Amino acid sequence: MTSQQIVIIGFMGTGKTTVAFTLARQLNCRVLDLDALITQSEKRSPKEIIQQDGEQAFRTIETETLRQVLAEASALVVAVGGGAWTIEENRRLIAEHGAFTIWLDAPFALCWKRIDAGREARPLAGTREMARKLYTERRPFYESADERVTVKENESVEEVVKKVARVVLRHEPNHD
Ligand code: S3P
Repeated sequence: MTSQQIVIIGFMGTGKTTVAFTLARQLNCRVLDLDALITQSEKRSPKEIIQQDGEQAFRTIETETLRQVLAEASALVVAVGGGAWTIEENRRLIAEHGAFTIWLDAPFALCWKRIDAGREARPLAGTREMARKLYTERRPFYESADERVTVKENESVEEVVKKVARVVLRHEPNHD
């Protein structure tokens, strides 16, 4: 199997973590969620870090954690938080390590439904308007991902993962 890392990016509520873990199970490879790793090492969730120290402090930790994960090749599949790909240094690191990015592109209404359901966890998307603004601002960044996989309202995780796996296989025929 290839050692090229796969980074799953996309807006909050697109299902990055769930898709990454399901994909990794299918590929029988290691997987990691950057926010979970941050929570573990900082002993605080991204939400708590943002609320206590501000977004910039979180972004610094996020970049350092990503740098470490890519350098150590800690996992083949890596899910990152919704803002990670919008930071130039993170994009540079991902490119430098030759990692492959897959953007989960879900309609705003679906993202918001999921964000709203777990609103407490996402301080940067506290209202529909805040989330909508970020969604619009970030799309041009997400569009520069290596691949895009659409996520529809009525699709199951398995269906989305099937599409992601197809993209991975097409990109790297040695995956099996
Ligand atoms: C963020 C998304 C969150 C988390 C943090 C910031 C963002 O991750 O990293 O709250 O800026 O979009 P999810 O995309 O997994 O919700």
